[in-house]
Amino acid sequence: MFRKIILTLVVFAGFCLRGSAQETIQHVYGRTVLSLNGPWNYIMDPYQMGYLDYRQKPFDQSKSGKGGFYDNLTGVDKSTKTEYDFTYAPTLEVPGDWNSQEEKLLFYEGTLWYKKDFVMNPDAGKRYFLYFGAVNYECHVYLNGKKLGVHKGGFTPFQFDVSGKLNPGKNFVVLMTDNTRKRDEIPTINTDWWNYGGITRDVMIVEMPQTYIEDYKVQLAKGSKDIIEGFVRLQGTEKSGKVTLEIPELKIKSSYTTDEDGKVSFSIKTRKMDYWSPEHPKLYDVIVTSTDDKVEDKIGFRTIATRHQDILLNDKPIFLKGISVHDENPILGGRLRSEGDMRMMLEWAKELGCNYIRLAHYTHNETMLRLADEVGLLVWAEIPVYWTISWTNPETYANAENQLTVGIDRDKNRASIIVWSVGNETPVTEERNVFMGHLVDKARSLDNTRLIAAALEVEREGYTIKVEDPLGDKLDLASFNEYGGWYWSEPKELPKYTFDIRFDKPVVISEFGAGALGGFHGDEDTVWSEEHQELVYINQLEMLDKMEALRGMTPWILTDFRSPRRQHPVYQDFWNRKGLISNTGKKKKAFYILQQYYKNKTAGKQR
Ligand code: GCU
Repeated sequence: MFRKIILTLVVFAGFCLRGSAQETIQHVYGRTVLSLNGPWNYIMDPYQMGYLDYRQKPFDQSKSGKGGFYDNLTGVDKSTKTEYDFTYAPTLEVPGDWNSQEEKLLFYEGTLWYKKDFVMNPDAGKRYFLYFGAVNYECHVYLNGKKLGVHKGGFTPFQFDVSGKLNPGKNFVVLMTDNTRKRDEIPTINTDWWNYGGITRDVMIVEMPQTYIEDYKVQLAKGSKDIIEGFVRLQGTEKSGKVTLEIPELKIKSSYTTDEDGKVSFSIKTRKMDYWSPEHPKLYDVIVTSTDDKVEDKIGFRTIATRHQDILLNDKPIFLKGISVHDENPILGGRLRSEGDMRMMLEWAKELGCNYIRLAHYTHNETMLRLADEVGLLVWAEIPVYWTISWTNPETYANAENQLTVGIDRDKNRASIIVWSVGNETPVTEERNVFMGHLVDKARSLDNTRLIAAALEVEREGYTIKVEDPLGDKLDLASFNEYGGWYWSEPKELPKYTFDIRFDKPVVISEFGAGALGGFHGDEDTVWSEEHQELVYINQLEMLDKMEALRGMTPWILTDFRSPRRQHPVYQDFWNRKGLISNTGKKKKAFYILQQYYKNKTAGKQR
């Protein structure tokens, strides 16, 4: 009975929120946009004075709808009484979390207001959208003093239709965001990463024709190396119309007519093509046109599958030489903000000898995925269903499913992504199995071409590491985190351990590692020294290499990163020190151990 209730609740939540996945425009970076990046005035508001009256009622739900900071009153004349004024307020750079920009905001968790003035002359014949790459965590958005809506979720893009709401000339956006952690949210209150708040990714006004190309998918069909399939969807006033798909290098130019919902699916047999791979990250120019719109993208084509314990990329076995990566610039101590930041991280991964990265633990910046396509790195993408989620709360499930849906929708054309992960280290209970099982089913229903995974739970019995997490039955990989030599056992003991894994699937270790303060040296038994981290890597790799089914790994982690859980005043100072590169950009000794191990793993040779 209990299980049935859970099931019903979870399914119902999925149903009622299905339509709420904020449909954002596909490939917004390929459209005509006015960037709103740059300095925004900001006001800290720990008591939400700009949103709630003294009886805790939202101003924007009062009769007048006025009274909040979104009115953007300023000292217009000597009689104006305001207790805020954006005009004289300091600024924060957007994109960028607030924590890394102001000393007093490093630990700030709460509500903060942003305001941006901009000038534009909207064309009455066009449509306009206000697009955010991500805002952490719950934000209320106002244009010219009028509320556009609310968005929840710190890592996924969203947009508001502002057609007809833009003034000719001067306009202003006001946004209130609250990054307070809450038990029933995704992620929940407990994470091992910094709760960076604010407008952390790009903001832009997107200009579109009245009828525009809202979305498209152009990928190889599941299991095929010469059928390109997908769809185009028009949005706007004339949804049914002619669309054309062109891939000039493949001599493809096909035209179709969309149905009354604006959608048309296609399946095209192609001539021989250059398949995308890390060694040869071939991207094709793909052009989608409609009567009034045109969008150009760069898309790679490859296949990914598993066969028993092998992972097959373009039908050839591959070993995933990976590393885990947070969305954080270690030098800055804040979210990655620009293409330059992201290239730095990806070049470090290439220098390490990687062909694969785990973008932990949440949806990363779209630019990161486009760069992975360009430089040739396979990707494990993930949503922040992390640790002790509220498994029986239907809204929590709907939130998780929404973040999964928006992430898959945004990145479905990226060749680099081979894995959608639905979570990390979630404790095994019946409720969790139902919740995660639904997420797996949802991921497969959205994308039947990529592998579905999660970091599973692990037990130990003596010198045996056992993996029998029931969620593994629904996944394509046997992936799990194990911290032998750090959280349990000693480095030199590791070669005595063996694995008992209940699944006939490829094993991809999603995390192992150890902490070291870059530049701190001692003998190999001195914890926090680079030598000790090096010893853990040497013995971990010896232990793992004995595993017949090992087909990849993403050790934890490329660079040190901020964490509120790491308080040692000498060795940590609120930094998780498991990086192979320090927060000063220094490569630690273990970097070279892993680099050599990957050098010895020639492409296609499993063992
Ligand atoms: C966990 C978790 C990571 C965390 C790491 C650590 O496995 O997945 O997010 O940072 O261990 O303890 O450093």
